[in-house]
Amino acid sequence: MSEPTAESLRATLSAIPDPASGKDIVTAGLVEEVQVKGGLVHISLLTDRAHAEAMEPVRRQVEKLLAKQPGVKNATAVLTAHKAAATPPAAPAKAALLPEVRAIVAVASGKGGVGKSTAAVNLAVALGRQGLRVGLLDADIYGPSLPRMLGLSRRPEVRRERMIPLKAWGLLAMSIGFLVEEETPMIWRGPMVMGALEQMMGQVEWGPLDIMVVDMPPGTGDAQLTMAQRVALTGAVIVSTPQDIALTDARRGVRMFERTRVPVLGLIENMSFFCCPNCGHRAEIFGHGGARREADRQGIEFLGEIPLLLDIRTASDAGTPIVADAPESEAAQAFAQIAQRLWVKVEAELAGKAASAPRIVIS
Ligand SMILES: Nc1ncnc2c1ncn2[C@@H]1O[C@H](COP(=O)(O)OP(=O)(O)O)[C@@H](O)[C@H]1O
Ligand SMILES: [Mg+2]
Repeated sequence: MSEPTAESLRATLSAIPDPASGKDIVTAGLVEEVQVKGGLVHISLLTDRAHAEAMEPVRRQVEKLLAKQPGVKNATAVLTAHKAAATPPAAPAKAALLPEVRAIVAVASGKGGVGKSTAAVNLAVALGRQGLRVGLLDADIYGPSLPRMLGLSRRPEVRRERMIPLKAWGLLAMSIGFLVEEETPMIWRGPMVMGALEQMMGQVEWGPLDIMVVDMPPGTGDAQLTMAQRVALTGAVIVSTPQDIALTDARRGVRMFERTRVPVLGLIENMSFFCCPNCGHRAEIFGHGGARREADRQGIEFLGEIPLLLDIRTASDAGTPIVADAPESEAAQAFAQIAQRLWVKVEAELAGKAASAPRIVIS
């Protein structure tokens, strides 16, 4: 079957109304970009913070309609923020959630099982050991990892209608897994996921923090959208394994953040090589260096590599992150170095933002 053109798909989209203007979304200028390749369609829809919520059903409608077109195998639509010039006051409005947190960093990947949660937890502990005030937010509503990895199963206290985050390993932590039975969130739909995430940011007594590390769910779904649109994210860190397939996913993760104008602070290669615990022999099971090459190619900083080590997994499963449990170990040192590099990047990002913020001149 022949592939539809971007123009014909654009024309198809004029059947969908824009809830804000009453015009169709094409006439209203909301269809920013239409890409077609090998039957895969990608659309970006322009929106701003005020209309993001109303646009979410439109986004789904777009995906549904396009997926039905002949020659289309799959269609994805993302909401993109208006370019800075169009909405200069967007930044302060976005900072409404977590105003006392200096930097918010999302740890993300294109797919699951690459060690994102392991990296988020250990980097958070390592940042805390550098003397920073650190929060760790589990944004993986469908598959929370923090209760197990931090060894926490208490319910957070509630004071004056605000939840008190749990303290462990020198950081403050919040996860949906502290609040509901493990299976419950599986049946939740998009808006509930967004609501739960917003509550874990807005109704939790985080207090002043230097950095909040956010353990993101895999992929590019509702949680990513919520974080990109409702929070002033300082940047994202992408975790990848050296395998090509995971790198393809990593690329998707990077693109998602670029589209939502969140800076990608760097790439981490996890399960980079295997160290035999008996003889110390180093085996590069998945090949090695793929993430570094990919980072170079994309002009993204390579933050470092984490070996594949049994101790990392057993520590996680025991609820004692390896950086806290064995800070002198090779694995902990690897996390500590990456955390240091990351903080340098974060500070540069914060300094850049402060420098580019409009200044009031009194004459
Ligand atoms: N470097 C590593 N060495 C050994 N096991 C690891 C490593 N990184 C992650 N794991 C294990 O792999 C599994 C998946 O990791 P996890 O952090 O939950 O991935 P994700 O959050 O990306 O889904 C867990 O059992 C974890 O303990
Ligand atoms: Mg995870």
